[in-house]
Amino acid sequence: MLKIDLSTCTKCGNCARVCPAFVIEIEDGGPVEKYPENCIECGHCVAVCPVNAVVHERMDPAGFPAVEDPGITLDAFNHLARNRRSTRRYKKEPVSRADMDKIISSARFAPTGENAQELEYLVIDDPARIAAIREAMAKQFKLLNALVKGLYGFVALAMGKKEAQRSRASLARIVAKWAEGKEAGEDPFLRTAPTLLIIHSKQKTFMAQTDAGIAGYHVMLAAETLGIGTVWNGFHQTFCKINGGMRKVSLVPKGHNVLASICLGYPAVKYKRNVHRRPVRSRFVGTGES
Ligand SMILES: Cc1cc2nc3c(=O)[nH]c(=O)nc-3n(C[C@H](O)[C@H](O)[C@H](O)COP(=O)(O)O)c2cc1C
Repeated sequence: MLKIDLSTCTKCGNCARVCPAFVIEIEDGGPVEKYPENCIECGHCVAVCPVNAVVHERMDPAGFPAVEDPGITLDAFNHLARNRRSTRRYKKEPVSRADMDKIISSARFAPTGENAQELEYLVIDDPARIAAIREAMAKQFKLLNALVKGLYGFVALAMGKKEAQRSRASLARIVAKWAEGKEAGEDPFLRTAPTLLIIHSKQKTFMAQTDAGIAGYHVMLAAETLGIGTVWNGFHQTFCKINGGMRKVSLVPKGHNVLASICLGYPAVKYKRNVHRRPVRSRFVGTGES
């Protein structure tokens, strides 16, 4: 699996030091691939070698370009992160295929637990399909609204009174908004977005959900750099988890789990200010100034 050129190897030992799965051991003559069955194909051994002496047979050498300074300051990063807003009003045109490709390619570099790289990306911008998903969500909301109303006592017991009251009021408002405004183009479900991205996976590893959370945020930040708005759609994601019909109308492959749903489009509303957030709650243990 690994080809290590011992004639150029400097025997610095870094390939063994960075390997997360302890595949390589340093012996007298240099690094030796000892446990190839443990390899997670992270590529670190190849990337860290100062003299290109390591080749991984399952990975294309062209996938290892030289590291470049991204030229991003913490201030610039914070501006990007602060400027991103959940967008709930979109222009009609879908995100161009070229931009969607760029955004998804960016998510490709998000880390995944044990380097699983199992996430799949489904982009829907067919207006008829988007409308069908919206209608299916409306049905789910109606059902949920009726359930929460009918079983309110249990809901309050399970969630606590305050949260149950808030959920009941919010569900009722969403259902009413749809009834009042559907014809005028109101959309409390997909938030008028012309494009829906679903991140799904067949994999059921422990970390799949976390992988999708990280990849989803990559998508949001990458979109922000292109002036494309996003909003995470927790409702669509949850309905897909619990309802086969919702997965079917959303064209999710059989046997796959929906791990993230993100609406995208060109924002129809511009924000002039960043928003207030509660101060971060943090604790530092053992890093106090002396
Ligand atoms: C996991 C997750 C699920 C969300 N689900 C929804 C949703 O179903 N509908 C919606 O309009 N916004 C949804 N949001 C957006 C949040 O309401 C939003 O991120 C939050 O209010 C903060 O606003 P900001 O994104 O503009 O900073 C979701 C956000 C996250 C992170």
